[in-house]
Amino acid sequence: MPKSINIAVDGYSSTGKSTLAKDLAAALGYRYVDSGAMYRGVTLYALKNGLIKNGRIAENLADYLEDMHLEFIFNRERGASDLHLNGEDVEEEIRELEVAKYVSDVASISEVRKFLVKAQQKMAGKKEVVMDGRDIGTVVMPDAELKIFVTARQAVRTSRRHGELIRRGKDVTKQEVEANLMQRDLIDSTREDSPLMQAEDARLLDNSELSLKEQLEIGLNWAKETLATT
Ligand code: CDP
Ligand code: CDP
Repeated sequence: MPKSINIAVDGYSSTGKSTLAKDLAAALGYRYVDSGAMYRGVTLYALKNGLIKNGRIAENLADYLEDMHLEFIFNRERGASDLHLNGEDVEEEIRELEVAKYVSDVASISEVRKFLVKAQQKMAGKKEVVMDGRDIGTVVMPDAELKIFVTARQAVRTSRRHGELIRRGKDVTKQEVEANLMQRDLIDSTREDSPLMQAEDARLLDNSELSLKEQLEIGLNWAKETLATT
C-alpha cells in the first residue's frame, strides 16, 4: 500500500512558504491548503461588513464566523485553488495591502483561530496534504510527518513581496511593504494563542539565496526521505 504523509510549511511573512508548499503538492500529487488565505478571508469579510471601522476591529467579530463560508475552488486558468467567500471568488481581493494591514490582529483572536483550525484539521484528515501557515506544525498538524520552517533575510523578503505586488499592478512602495511584513511578523510571533514558532521537529530552510527550483529540490528530497522512513 502506498504511504502517504502530511507536510507542514511554516515561517515568516513572504518567505516563499506558499510557493514551496504549492510546488511540493504538485510534485507529489498532494492537495495544497493555504491557511493564510482563510485568515485573509475572515479579515476581508470584516472589512466589507463594517466590522473593522476607523482601524478598529469589532469586539463581536467572532459572532459572525458562522456566516462566513470559506471554500477553496480549483481555478483552471490559474492551475490553483482560489478562495471563495460566501460563493464569491475573493482570491485577488484578499491579497490587497488593506487586508494585510489587519489580518494579524484578526488572527490573534482565539475564536477565529479555533474556527479556522477546525476547518484546516478536517482538510488534513485524509493525508496527502501540504499546508502552509504559521501554526501548522505546532497546532494544526502536530503529527505531520514532515515539517519545514522557512526563513529568509528581511530585505530579500521585502523585495520579493514588493516585486510581486508591482507585477500585479499594485501601487505600493517598498517601505509600505516592509512595514507591513515587520508588523505582521511581530504580532504573529508574540501573540498569546499559537504564536509563530519553529516546531521542535521542523527542518529549517533559509532560502535567501535559493531559487524556486532549488528550494523545491531541497523540500522534495526531505519529502522522499520522509516517505522512505515512514
Ligand atoms: O503570504 P504571507 O506570508 O504574506 O501571509 P499569509 O500566509 O497569507 O498569512 C496572512 C496572515 O494570516 C499572517 O500574517 C498571520 O497573521 C495569519 N496566519 C496565522 O495566524 N496562522 C496561519 N496558519 C496562517 C496565517
Ligand atoms: O507564502 P509566502 O508569503 O511565505 O511567500 P510566497 O508568496 O510563496 O513568495 C513571495 C514571493 O517571493 C513570490 O513572488 C515568490 O515567487 C518569491 N520567491 C522567490 O523569488 N524565491 C524564493 N526562493 C522564494 C520565493
